[in-house]
Amino acid sequence: MPVGLHTEGGAPAASFGAGLEVERLTVRFGGLLALDGVSLAVAPHEVVGLIGPNGAGKTTLFNAISGFVRATRGWIRWNGRLLQNHHAHDLGRLGIARTLQGVGLCQGLTAIENVACGAQPSLHADLGSALGGLWRSSREERRVAGEAAALLGQLGVGDWAHRLPGSLPYGVQKRVALARALISHPRLLLLDEPASGLSADDMDDLSSRIQDLREHMSVLLVEHRMDFVMAACDRIVVFNFGEVVATGTPEEIQASPEVTEAYLGDAVGATPTGVGKGRVDAAR
Ligand SMILES: Nc1ncnc2c1ncn2[C@@H]1O[C@H](COP(=O)(O)OP(=O)(O)OP(=O)(O)O)[C@@H](O)[C@H]1O
Ligand SMILES: [Mg+2]
Repeated sequence: MPVGLHTEGGAPAASFGAGLEVERLTVRFGGLLALDGVSLAVAPHEVVGLIGPNGAGKTTLFNAISGFVRATRGWIRWNGRLLQNHHAHDLGRLGIARTLQGVGLCQGLTAIENVACGAQPSLHADLGSALGGLWRSSREERRVAGEAAALLGQLGVGDWAHRLPGSLPYGVQKRVALARALISHPRLLLLDEPASGLSADDMDDLSSRIQDLREHMSVLLVEHRMDFVMAACDRIVVFNFGEVVATGTPEEIQASPEVTEAYLGDAVGATPTGVGKGRVDAAR
């Protein structure tokens, strides 16, 4: 039996595919059912968007995939392997990286140091010396620093590398956070509201970068900016009250009157108004 994941509802299917597979995942916070039997998949090189009102359970799914919260039922498989009892510090080894809702940079570190922090766990033993001012004291640290600088340059924010996050424009901070995720060379990238607070130009740029990234990885992203989701994603999964209520291509999701009314408002590009804050289900 998978440790930390209960087998209620039957054993996991024997067929192990590639990519991310979530099956009947349930997460409960006391009496609150944050995820209720969620099933979805992200294929290799696919960009999947997760949308839904505030409190629908989108970040909770990311937290379950990342090992921050434990499921009470169901399974998560990544490249055929059950993720069970894993922790955030296992993600680099698993080839998974995420950005946090908001920005989540360490305010006491420069942009480039923040990016270096996202490097593989094997490097963390050297980070103490890096933070203590011996930044270039080892070949490995130089390699990480060089890669961090290159990533910031590729994302168009190389000029800000030695600035503290608090002094950077919001769009630059978001790119630094993306670079911190990318430096671990993930094969699954989880982006929680990557376009929030971005200008239209920055959003277009991010959308095309994500299209480039899919050559190397799968992407699962949560976003309220519908124009961005429609442009960036191959497929969209709609959450409401912790359940998947629709799945389809951007065209299919836009054409669904039910989904349009509930989530998109009258016009694509609107931020969903939200229809609830999760379901409180004390009986279950
Ligand atoms: N650690 C926690 N402990 C208790 N309740 C939680 C916890 N994390 C999330 N919740 C609750 O679970 C529900 C789902 O929250 P979640 O953050 O996953 O929503 P979301 O879809 O990401 O919303 P938003 O679009 O506002 O970010 C909410 O009711 C939230 O208050
Ligand atoms: Mg969220």
